[in-house]
Amino acid sequence: MSQAADFGLTLTQHVMANQGSHPDARGQLSALLTQIGVAGKLISAQVRRAGLIELWGATGDTNVQGERVQKLDQIANDTLVEVLTRSGCVAAMASEEEDSFIEVSSEQAGDYIVVFDPLDGSSNIDVSVSIGTIFGIYRRPENEPISLDSILQPGRKLVAAGYIVYGSSTVLVYSAGESVDCFTLDPSSGEFFQTRANVRMPADTTMLSINECNAPYWPSWVRPTLDTLKTRNTENHRIISSRHIGSLVVDFHRNLVKGGLYLYPVDSRTGRGKLRLIYECNPLAYIAEIAGGAAMVDGQRILDLQPSALHQRVGLAIGPSSDVMMIDRLSRE
Ligand code: AHG
Ligand code: MN
Ligand code: MN
Repeated sequence: MSQAADFGLTLTQHVMANQGSHPDARGQLSALLTQIGVAGKLISAQVRRAGLIELWGATGDTNVQGERVQKLDQIANDTLVEVLTRSGCVAAMASEEEDSFIEVSSEQAGDYIVVFDPLDGSSNIDVSVSIGTIFGIYRRPENEPISLDSILQPGRKLVAAGYIVYGSSTVLVYSAGESVDCFTLDPSSGEFFQTRANVRMPADTTMLSINECNAPYWPSWVRPTLDTLKTRNTENHRIISSRHIGSLVVDFHRNLVKGGLYLYPVDSRTGRGKLRLIYECNPLAYIAEIAGGAAMVDGQRILDLQPSALHQRVGLAIGPSSDVMMIDRLSRE
């Protein structure tokens, strides 16, 4: 038997095999997911060579959110914009690195709207720590011209979402509503092969991810809640351990596979969270829920929040359902 026969389905094979069962199946969604895989390969290739070809460091610009733009942020953004525009599947897109949404010309426009964080965890680029791309896909509203409202859809309307982690290997994770599946890039063939099928988030929290140095800015419920979680560890048995990379998508991926809780509470200095509802929280909340987990803030399901602005930031608790619900209850007492 050839070695290739031992590999899982390719990303394209998986997407095509599932398109029949998807209510949105018209071929375009499959083509779009496949093209996101292509963008992931292109970005991965740049990430892997970053230190060698002078892609470390900042561009000297700040983005609309006042953050320093790293060279790889810009490259990842431009790659996605270009690949998605050419795909013929996208009517408009919105990126964390763009001031406003981008409408695709009518000759190239398709049925979908794509939102993305081109490179999440940019502060980790120059120190060779894992980073990723996060994306969400909505249908364009029918019979109306594209406007800001076409993009400001609540996360529960996502038709697919996922992310790509550029870590010790490059892994693409996606769901179109039925299951969460993982694909690992084989660098020698340039193909994504399925390496995990129908991932379920473990019900018990074994990992806790939070930036503890933000304690002075936390709401009062956070510290006692963390203390309660830590009481699960006894003298003889450690149940829960701290893991925080500082790239949300990578922290989330580990937590999805191993059972972990990620918290980024509202910050008292700004009165809001740090993470972006549209580009970060919604796609990951969608994946978490399909895998059996949950994502909440202030008594609301993340996916039910109605976005009011493109770059809106919110607090986030995401992970195993029972602990997200427990945290949500404590945060409202
Ligand atoms: P980005 O690199 O896309 O701007 O996102 C950074 C986010 C997220 O990835 C990470 O978990 C979080 O910021 C870390 O923030 P702190 O440094 O405040 O912990
Ligand atoms: Mn990010
Ligand atoms: Mn980013």
